[in-house]
Amino acid sequence: MNKRATKAASASPRVPTGSPERLRSSAPEAVFLIGFMGAGKSSVGAVLGRRLNWIFEDLDDRIERRERRTVAQIFRESGEPAFRRAERSALQDVLEGIHNQARVVALGGGAFVQTSNAELLKSSGVPIIFLDAPVEELWERCRKQASEALAERPLLRSLDQFRELHEKRRSHYCEASLTIETGGRTVDQIADEIAAKLGLKMLEPRSQEGDVE
Ligand code: S3P
Repeated sequence: MNKRATKAASASPRVPTGSPERLRSSAPEAVFLIGFMGAGKSSVGAVLGRRLNWIFEDLDDRIERRERRTVAQIFRESGEPAFRRAERSALQDVLEGIHNQARVVALGGGAFVQTSNAELLKSSGVPIIFLDAPVEELWERCRKQASEALAERPLLRSLDQFRELHEKRRSHYCEASLTIETGGRTVDQIADEIAAKLGLKMLEPRSQEGDVE
């Protein structure tokens, strides 16, 4: 079910944006990655987690395990409002255990846009990183993943609808603690930048990999 493991940001550098002013002074032990579809949240999160020996978790995967259905099935069979309720409960679960083990959590593109989720996330004190990119590039990445059957995205329709949704959501994402530009950059470059800007500390390797509770 892990549709996200293969999502990737692409290559060739652009200037990073965002500033770390709103970040905590002590090194955090959890990070949330947010951004629109195709932002590279899952691929960057997986690389960052491996590099730091932190758990990596994708909120959509937790939803799928809890619901025993894929995200696409939930949308198809029960509709978006049901998906948003499942997303909210899964997020509450994650937040309850957030200080137990160091982890990187990638959220689906709509999670932070729900005001109540954003409030919960902000009040957790965990840094929220917005992975940004030009909308055309996001579209291209999603199209490529769709053509390679790497990700089934219920909200991936026409370019116009994609742009419109992106436009509506972008101001929400900008409320993150830090914005990282991903346009034309590799997953490794992005993970490095996040680790450096937040001063994230590498842990001793865990004995059991991927043990998300
Ligand atoms: C959604 C994005 C998807 C997934 C669901 C809804 C959205 O995740 O949560 O299809 O509302 O943008 P990705 O952002 O990982 O594609």
